Amino acid sequence: MNWKIGWWVMTVLALIIAAYAIALLFVPAMRAPFLQKRFATVPLAAYLHLAGSGIALAIGPFQLNTRLRNRFLHIHRWMGRTYVVSVLLGGVAAFALATMSQAGLPTHMGFGLLAVLWLFTTGNAYRHIRVGDRVSHRRWMIRSYALTFAAVTLRIYLPLSQIAGIPFDPAYQTIAWLCWVPNLIVAHERCTCRGLSSMTIMETGDGSGLGRVYVRWSRMLPSQLVTRVRLPSCSALRVQR
Ligand code: HEM
Repeated sequence: MNWKIGWWVMTVLALIIAAYAIALLFVPAMRAPFLQKRFATVPLAAYLHLAGSGIALAIGPFQLNTRLRNRFLHIHRWMGRTYVVSVLLGGVAAFALATMSQAGLPTHMGFGLLAVLWLFTTGNAYRHIRVGDRVSHRRWMIRSYALTFAAVTLRIYLPLSQIAGIPFDPAYQTIAWLCWVPNLIVAHERCTCRGLSSMTIMETGDGSGLGRVYVRWSRMLPSQLVTRVRLPSCSALRVQR
């Protein structure tokens, strides 16, 4: 799937779930019984979580789009600040909700760690842009949004687990982790793949003076032969980033 189609799929899914979260704020009848309980016992956390997280989820795709960012840098800055504040409010509230989430300790821990990492990655993205480091800023934003996107993956896995007939508690306990750990791994890979992980130039060893150039885009991928070159008399040269 190319990046453009991927961006559209991500954006549409994000906007649907964000609209669902905002609708829950205004239409109490839509709230599941467990959520009605949260609104009754910890209303501030419930309101802040749904509002902050919904806004962050809706804003993220537009922030990650390079063309939009380059064309409307001023808007990008303001939407970025809004994203950071939304994650701050939504994330602190998420941590509070995690301590009382359904299905016990495994979900408390899964959602709790997700909330902490969400705040951490977003804080790092903000810190890097404050000192003008755009490359690191982008990498941390990709990680942050991969965690924001857990709201979407959770709502894909949960109905699938119900269709598969898996009882709610074990399914929910697993999905509290599954909704974000793979997202984070893929995002981390994407960040490291974007830059060259290592490049190795090897002599063929047949005395012909020819060599091969291997590149490795990520530590988790094997080296790939990209071209053959004529070498000076060196046996192996390794350029490592
Ligand atoms: C990324 C960090 C997030 C964490 C740690 C988190 C955590 C939680 C927790 C613990 C609950 C209560 C679940 C329960 O009691 O079993 C919850 C509910 C909810 N969260 Fe999040 N959340 C996060 C992100 C988001 C985002 C980005 C959205 C965006 C729409 C969102 C939307 C909701 C909604 C709508 C509910 C109510 C439950 C439902 O009706 O599906 N969350 N969240």
